[in-house]
Amino acid sequence: MAIKPVVFNNTVLRDGHQSLAATRMRTEQMLPALEMLDSLGFGALETWGGATIDAGLRFLGEFPFDRLDAIKKGTPKTPHMMLLRGQNIVQYQNFPDDVVEAFVHTSAKHGMDVFRIFDALNDTRNIATAVRAAKAAGKHAQGVICYTTSPVHTTEKFIEMGREIEALGCDSICLKDMAGLIPPVACYQIVKGLKDNCKIPVIVHTHDTAGLGASTYYSAVEAGVDAIDTAISPFANGTGQPDTVRMLALLAGHPRCPSYDVKTLTALREHFTKVYGELGSFTSHTNEIVDTDTLTYQVPGGMLSNFRNQLKEQKMEDKFDDVFAEIPVVRKALGWIPLVTPTSQIVGVQAMLNVKFGRWKNFSPQAMDIALGYYGRTPAPVDPEVQKLAAEKTGKDPITVRPADLKKPGMAALRQELAAKGYPTDDEHCVIHAMFPQELEKYFAAKKNPSPAAAAPAAPVATKSAPVAAAATPSTAISTSAPSGEVGEVKKMILTIGDRRVPVTVETLA
Ligand code: CO
Repeated sequence: MAIKPVVFNNTVLRDGHQSLAATRMRTEQMLPALEMLDSLGFGALETWGGATIDAGLRFLGEFPFDRLDAIKKGTPKTPHMMLLRGQNIVQYQNFPDDVVEAFVHTSAKHGMDVFRIFDALNDTRNIATAVRAAKAAGKHAQGVICYTTSPVHTTEKFIEMGREIEALGCDSICLKDMAGLIPPVACYQIVKGLKDNCKIPVIVHTHDTAGLGASTYYSAVEAGVDAIDTAISPFANGTGQPDTVRMLALLAGHPRCPSYDVKTLTALREHFTKVYGELGSFTSHTNEIVDTDTLTYQVPGGMLSNFRNQLKEQKMEDKFDDVFAEIPVVRKALGWIPLVTPTSQIVGVQAMLNVKFGRWKNFSPQAMDIALGYYGRTPAPVDPEVQKLAAEKTGKDPITVRPADLKKPGMAALRQELAAKGYPTDDEHCVIHAMFPQELEKYFAAKKNPSPAAAAPAAPVATKSAPVAAAATPSTAISTSAPSGEVGEVKKMILTIGDRRVPVTVETLA
C-alpha cells in the first residue's frame, strides 16, 4: 500500500484570527485571499463557527450567514469546515434539539460541509443530535475528543471515546487540543490507538501556545494521522495553529510530507500580514510567544492571563498559587471535566471563590449545574458531598439524562418572537435569535439607522494582552443559566478570556 501524504486543513479564516486577533477579521479582509486559499487543495478550510458567529455579529455588524455565503462563493472547490459546540451550537448553554437541527441544516444549505462537533464534558450524548443532523443533511460529521490531563484521562479512555464517536455514525474523529498541552509522545500514543481501533479518519488539532504544536503534529504524522490543521502566518503559531509553510519544512523528506504550493502560501502570508497590521488593536505580542506557564499549570493560556488580572481586581494577587492549587480540587470534585469553553471559566471562577470564601462556601450556579448533571455526564463521578450541597442550595435534583431531553422544542416560539418584532422569520434568523437575541436586535437597529457610532465596535474589547478580567458589564448580552430568584445578591459579570466572552453569575455574600 502506498504511503498516504498527510492532509493539511487550513484554519486562518477561523481559529487563526480567533486565537491571534480576538476573532476580528472582517469578511472583506478575507475576500482577496479566497481564490488563493481555494487553489491550494487543502483538505478543508475552517471558515465559520467557534467565536466567529458571535464576534462577527457583535463587533463587526455582519449577519453570520452572509459571511458564509461570501466565503463559499470565493472558495467553491474546497470543503468548508466549522467548529460546533454540540448542543450549545456556538453558545454556552444547551439548546433544544430542533434548534440544533435547524442550525445544522441551515448551515449545510449555505455551504457548510464538515461539522466538527465537540462537547466540553466529552459527553458524546451532547454531540449526538448535531451529528445526526449533519448526516441527515448529507454532510460530514466529525466527532471531537477534547484533550485534557487528569487521572481518568488515560490513553485507553481517549481510545474508548474514539470508538463511541465511531459508533455514533461520525465520519471522522478529531483529537482537539485547545490548550496546546499535548506532548508529542502522548499524541503519538492516542493517534496510534485511534488508528488501530477505529476505521474512520483521525485529525489532530492543536495550538502552538506552549511551543509544542509543530512537534506534536510531527508525531501525529508518524502515528498515521490522516489530517492536521495549520494556518497562515501571522495568524499562526503562538496561541494559533502552526504555520503551513513551517509544517511543510518540518516534514521535508518525510514519506508523508504533502505538497502545497509555497509560492501561493507566500503570497497569502503577504496578504494576511497586511490584515494583521490592520487588526493591530486586537493583536498582542503575548499571543505570539511561547508560554510555558500553560504547561506548568496545565490550563489553557488564556485562562492564566485572565486570572492574573482577575485576582488583581479582587485584591488577591498573593493568592495566585493557592487558586491554581485549587483548580485540580475543583476539577476532581466536578468529575475531572476538561478545561474548554465554558468549563475552563466555570472551574476557574469556582477555584477563586473557594480560596476567597472557603471551599464550596460560595458555589457558583454554573458549577452547581455541572455537579448536578445539567451540563451532561462528567468523565468521572461528581463528589457525592459536593453534589448533595449543590442540590440543597439550588433545590434542584441531580439528573443523569441527556440535559437537552429536558428541553421543549424551541423553533416555533423563536419564529413567533421574530414575527412580533417584524424581523425575518426564516431559520437563519431563528437560530441566530436563539443564541444572540440582543445582538440581533442591535444589528437590525444599526442597519435601520446607520451611523458612525453604530458602525463602531460595540464594546471595549479585551485581547490577551489586556484582558478585562471581570468587566462589570451587564450580562444581558448573553443569557446565563443561573437560576432566577435566588437568595442573596447575584452579580452578573462577563469574563473575557482571550477573545472569549463568557457570562458568569457570582453570588455575593454582601
Ligand atoms: Co483551536
